[in-house]
Amino acid sequence: MKIAVVGTGYVGLVTGTCFAETGNQVTCVDIDSRKVEKLNKGKLTIYEPGLDVIFERNTKEGRLKFTTNLAEGIKEAQVIFLALPTPPGEDGSADLKYILGVANDLGPILENYTVIIDKSTVPVGTAEKVHERIAKNAKVEFDVVSNPEFLREGVAVEDFMKPDRVVIGTKSEKAKRVMEKLYAPLVRQGNPIIFMDERSAEMTKYAANAFLAMKITFMNEIANLCEKTNANVDDIRRGIGTDSRIGKRFLFAGIGYGGSCFPKDVQALEKTASDYDYDFKILKSVMKVNEKQKTKLMPHLKKYFNGDLKGKTIALWGLAFKPHTDDIREAPALYNIKELRKAGAKVVVYDPEAMENVREVVGKKVKYAKNPYEALQGADALMIMTEWPEFRTPDFEKMEGTLKNKVIFDGRNLYELKDMKELGYTYFSIGRETAKA
Ligand code: UDX
Repeated sequence: MKIAVVGTGYVGLVTGTCFAETGNQVTCVDIDSRKVEKLNKGKLTIYEPGLDVIFERNTKEGRLKFTTNLAEGIKEAQVIFLALPTPPGEDGSADLKYILGVANDLGPILENYTVIIDKSTVPVGTAEKVHERIAKNAKVEFDVVSNPEFLREGVAVEDFMKPDRVVIGTKSEKAKRVMEKLYAPLVRQGNPIIFMDERSAEMTKYAANAFLAMKITFMNEIANLCEKTNANVDDIRRGIGTDSRIGKRFLFAGIGYGGSCFPKDVQALEKTASDYDYDFKILKSVMKVNEKQKTKLMPHLKKYFNGDLKGKTIALWGLAFKPHTDDIREAPALYNIKELRKAGAKVVVYDPEAMENVREVVGKKVKYAKNPYEALQGADALMIMTEWPEFRTPDFEKMEGTLKNKVIFDGRNLYELKDMKELGYTYFSIGRETAKA
């Protein structure tokens, strides 16, 4: 099939590359000429495990191309994916200017029957708006379909190639057949394509992300209560996760969720609710709790240093909002850097992938270490923000004598309490007792 993908951000690039891998001819369109130039030179613009290999293969084979010219990019395309940003506007609602702008441009240049697919996360009713905009100037038949993505950063290629399910919102039989053909290679294992109307598909995406954000937040609140009642959140997680109605995943308590999706989507869904005069109380609480959770370790840290962090050096392991990505959007690390600096502390950071992105935002306000151990040299305490595998089993012998105080504030519960006691650390984590040396 001939496919166009408009927008080569994270979702667009993964979608385009993966559909090229299943044998389609894909052209990706972006207004950013520097990005397109880089991609045309065979260089990826995002870090995503496994994407480089299929990107290289498909660009070499000529199945994956990039252009800044929309008309050229969509020429002869049977389907056009819209993978454009929907940043939150001032009131928290998703801003549709990019999507509707492209919809306006598409009308006059469509040449044959085309299926236009909303891949971005968009509020209920967007497919109808996109349809209206295109219809104004279109001379040919077309359908607008809602096909939300459920890609997790870090495992996006796998999520794309082996989806738990594919959700497709359309009432058009013709569009349904096109979508079935397109996704057939990805659902051979028997995972379903779930068809529904456009509005329900749009809502499904928000419901999925809001539910997961709520699940994490619920565990964070249980963790906070565990700290007060002297129970252990790890045991609770195992105790409830084995109930198949609850499920094992997304039950890890920590310093809050971040990233490009959960915070934005929870906020946008709450905004939709309030637009429809519905008071979505749970979502409001989820946002409030998560906000507080991000800097949850700060009071412990302050107390440990008798209320005074001035001149103290704090080493921070992990900057990305989660492992296997360089994405720092809404990352708890950024909030903690801000709080630490506000309290007068110096900050030394290390992350395997996200250093450059942090440098762009934070600049010289923090120091950048070459490796995790360098960050500890002469620091007064260690804080852990991201559960990168290399932080899970550090070389504790190498750590001896580096930190001024053997104290760790762990926002991801990476270590066993008894191990930390044996190693002589004072160890604060989430929802567990404090291990005292
Ligand atoms: C999410 C959704 O999973 C994906 O389907 C959607 O399309 C985009 O948003 P992503 O933001 O890449 O994906 O990350 P995810 O792995 O879902 O984690 C989100 C956040 O929740 C991270 O900050 C992570 O640290 C946190 N989290 C996750 C927890 O705190 N505890 C958990 O148990 C799981």
